[in-house]
Amino acid sequence: MSKRRLFVTTALPYANGKFHIGHIMEYIQADIWVRFQRMQGNLVHFVCADDAHGAPIMIAAEKAGITPQAFVANIASGRKPYLDGFHISFDNWHSTDGEENHALAKQIYLELQDAGLIEVREIEQFFDPEKGMFLPDRFIKGECPSCGAKDQYGDSCESCGAVYSPTEVKNPYSALSGSKPILKKSDHYFFKLSDPRCITFLQEWTQGLNAEGRSRLQPEVLNKIKEWFVTDESGKSGLGDWDISRDAPYFGIEIPNAPGKYFYVWLDAPIGYLASLKNYLDQENTKNNVPGVVSFDSFLGDPGVEQYHFIGKDITYFHTLFWPAMLHFSGRKTPSSIFVHGFITVSGEKMSKSRGTGIDPLKYLALGMNPEWLRYYLAAKLSARVEDVDFNPQDFMLRVNSDLVGKYINIASRAANFIHKQFSAKLGTVNSNGEQLLSQLQSAAHEISKLYEEREFAKALRDIMALADLVNEFVDQNKPWELAKQEGAEEQLQAVCTTCLEAFRYLSIYLKPVLPALCAQVETFLKCPPLVFADANTRLGAGHVINDYKHLIQRVDEKVLDKLFELPEVVETTPGSASKPQSPKAKGGSQPAHSADAPGGEPVAPTIGIEDFSKIDLRIAQIVSCEAVEGSTKLLRLMLDVGEGRTRQVFSGIASVYKPEDLVGKLTVMVANLAPRKMKFGVSEGMVLAASHADEKSTPGIYILHPWDGAKPGMRIH
Ligand code: 2FM
Ligand code: ZN
Repeated sequence: MSKRRLFVTTALPYANGKFHIGHIMEYIQADIWVRFQRMQGNLVHFVCADDAHGAPIMIAAEKAGITPQAFVANIASGRKPYLDGFHISFDNWHSTDGEENHALAKQIYLELQDAGLIEVREIEQFFDPEKGMFLPDRFIKGECPSCGAKDQYGDSCESCGAVYSPTEVKNPYSALSGSKPILKKSDHYFFKLSDPRCITFLQEWTQGLNAEGRSRLQPEVLNKIKEWFVTDESGKSGLGDWDISRDAPYFGIEIPNAPGKYFYVWLDAPIGYLASLKNYLDQENTKNNVPGVVSFDSFLGDPGVEQYHFIGKDITYFHTLFWPAMLHFSGRKTPSSIFVHGFITVSGEKMSKSRGTGIDPLKYLALGMNPEWLRYYLAAKLSARVEDVDFNPQDFMLRVNSDLVGKYINIASRAANFIHKQFSAKLGTVNSNGEQLLSQLQSAAHEISKLYEEREFAKALRDIMALADLVNEFVDQNKPWELAKQEGAEEQLQAVCTTCLEAFRYLSIYLKPVLPALCAQVETFLKCPPLVFADANTRLGAGHVINDYKHLIQRVDEKVLDKLFELPEVVETTPGSASKPQSPKAKGGSQPAHSADAPGGEPVAPTIGIEDFSKIDLRIAQIVSCEAVEGSTKLLRLMLDVGEGRTRQVFSGIASVYKPEDLVGKLTVMVANLAPRKMKFGVSEGMVLAASHADEKSTPGIYILHPWDGAKPGMRIH
């Protein structure tokens, strides 16, 4: 069979934050598939890039006081430790702000325009007069038109779940400047997805088969898409035209022949897949004699090349409708398949870094945890379906320790010592029992390859571990440790241990897409060239000499695993302790150092510079809800809105002075960048500021702060 040529990508992450465990799961899933394809002898170009454009990145850069380019470069410079750390074998990492993407996006747009699929329409949008810019939906806030909840986003209400357009919001204000936005008209560019040509093409494309005879989309994705196609009573298709332009100021790619207009980030983001491939192939082509490398145009112009995109379920619409339509109507090859995966949860909870339920990938590595434990564990849970995957710490430890160490690695460690000590590291001849076992292992190659190809990794690993069980049964039946003591049983001992090591090699071939670094060590130990799937047809053979066995993988240590989830502990003590700093304590004693004549009962703290003060991010917070904490007489649990599109849980020691119902709806001040702290009752994600006298006994009372009218949640206190 001739070699397949594949172009594979993962979704391009926004360049406004570090990788979280969700990114790493997607990269691991794609990387396992890519490594499997390479082990089949196929040529794979596997690329990714930073998704650099859009209003949020522009605004974040402005806040940081740097250019968007510098902001994005800064994020990009932090990517390598994650990718290397988890053995992700991308051929290239680029940026959607690269010159290739600017050129390709403009070219594709002009081709769509030539195809008659671009239309200019005047629309009315909210404009921030103070900032001089049109406001993206997420930067418009106001009262929900449905339930009246305050401080809701311009597109949906977090309180009642209503979805609406920004112009329906009552008393809208700009989340950027706080000012009242005005309605302003502007020309926008639309991709006419409602054009009958687009609808016919997409109906066929989504439901049809690719050149390899497989469905382009998973069944559950296809079901979802059918809902999007539904026509209304008047016969109008469910596919609306897509607004692909944004007005200046915008960090993006300028639209040709339309000064001051930029492509909406989602137009140029997927084109970034092609741009990263081009950037890679252009570099490879400057080198001499790189096998299989042709120019970008000939590679993508080749109808035999297969194109696959791994993505999360939240971005299905963009990848299954907009993207194939953009490619097709600009005269390009469309994706062979879109591979959609679910989200990762941690102990059943949707991950959230600030609540401490996520796993910080760099912390995982810094703790010395083996990246291949995670690769193995995730692979053991991944299927071709769009299902969420749960990381459960206990299950993780059990699975890794019992499968990887207990079943797989033990086979090598049990056999290698005898071969070294008694047979000068040389393999012998396998007897008939051994032959039977080995032929079982060998003939599994076909089914295991099929499962990898179909991204049924969990099933593949189950089959591989069932084979490992057979090998361990063989060891238990043949008892090499007893043979070693029997006189005249040398040949049999060598045959049994040889069988084990040949079997170990088969298992290593099958596990290599998941465990590349471990299998590289196995190759050194077995003294064999890099393993590929075709090696399932061969043996090391009698007379083959192996290297010393060095322990290949450690067990998961529960204490280290606990550390991965640890947050700094805070102990509940006096009222206010969870929400305000403690007074300095007198040396050696437990009495607070009060001073009757000092203001508020304590001397003013040593002078600090403005740079120290600016480290503390104080924000206006709205108390969305507030309740007593069961089991505590001192604490109240407050849910605070600081304009982030979510609420934060903060515990405050003010139960003795405030009734929960009196606080709901009020504005106050919080420290928004305090590290989350684990408390007995949950994690506290910040601190509410309160005033009190240092001598709480003589001058009792705790007073939380309340801003003057006009302050809005999220505003910073300078
Ligand atoms: O959802 C996201 O994180 C986007 N940055 C994904 C873009 S994928 C591709 F289209 F670039
Ligand atoms: Zn509402």
